[in-house]
Amino acid sequence: MTNFHILTLFPEMVMQGLHTSILGRAVERKYISIEAVNIRDYTLDKHGKVDDYTYGGGAGMLMQAQPVYDAWKAVTDRIAARQAKRFCRVIYMTPQGRTFHQELAQELAQEEDLIFLCGHYEGIDERVLEEIVTDEISIGDYVLTGGELPAMVMIDAIARLVPGVLHNTDSAVTESFYDGLLEYPQYSRPEIWHDRRVPAILLSGDHAKVDAWRMEQSLARTRERRPDLYEAYCKRNGPDSKSMKKLDKKL
Ligand code: ADE
Repeated sequence: MTNFHILTLFPEMVMQGLHTSILGRAVERKYISIEAVNIRDYTLDKHGKVDDYTYGGGAGMLMQAQPVYDAWKAVTDRIAARQAKRFCRVIYMTPQGRTFHQELAQELAQEEDLIFLCGHYEGIDERVLEEIVTDEISIGDYVLTGGELPAMVMIDAIARLVPGVLHNTDSAVTESFYDGLLEYPQYSRPEIWHDRRVPAILLSGDHAKVDAWRMEQSLARTRERRPDLYEAYCKRNGPDSKSMKKLDKKL
């Protein structure tokens, strides 16, 4: 069970996006919980303001420290009341962070509670980030208008690794990035479509042969499309692993 807490100015955006399809079902069945905390609810400003101009000048507004800190404090106090462990990772979504990847998703899926902090405008006052943030994470080298979509991307990737969320546990294992390889190609009915045939081996009923073919496809694809992942895989598995020797002979 993982509880996701999202500190945001747009709670309806994340709640709508994360309560559909597989994650919606996982919430209903209590494998995960997702709450959005509206940072604006914690501002002490009587007009509900949460942002202000930056010291030193420059374009754009900055989210102020006080409402962000108080929203975080409310969530952590609630977590502490239920959990002996007081520490909870706080992930700030920012293009300045380290890049998100599958291994980090695996690591975070072990946590009982995760807090995501979504910034807007030109960002958040540095002082509150220094006080509460444990991880600064980017989802890629491009700049989005806010941290909500990145938080949703991360939560989707993490939640599907929480036990019970996916029906068929196999699908979390045999897929792109499991063991650092890309997934093999897959086919469904009909056998012939637009004159294209499903590879004969998949219709043979010989499971060992099918598995060997899939492994070979994964290796070949990874080598061609993501040489960086292929090289890392070779290093981990040793250059003389059986499947790679076979592939080398073929190519
Ligand atoms: N906020 C804006 N752009 C982002 C990105 N690429 N990753 C994470 N958070 C962001």
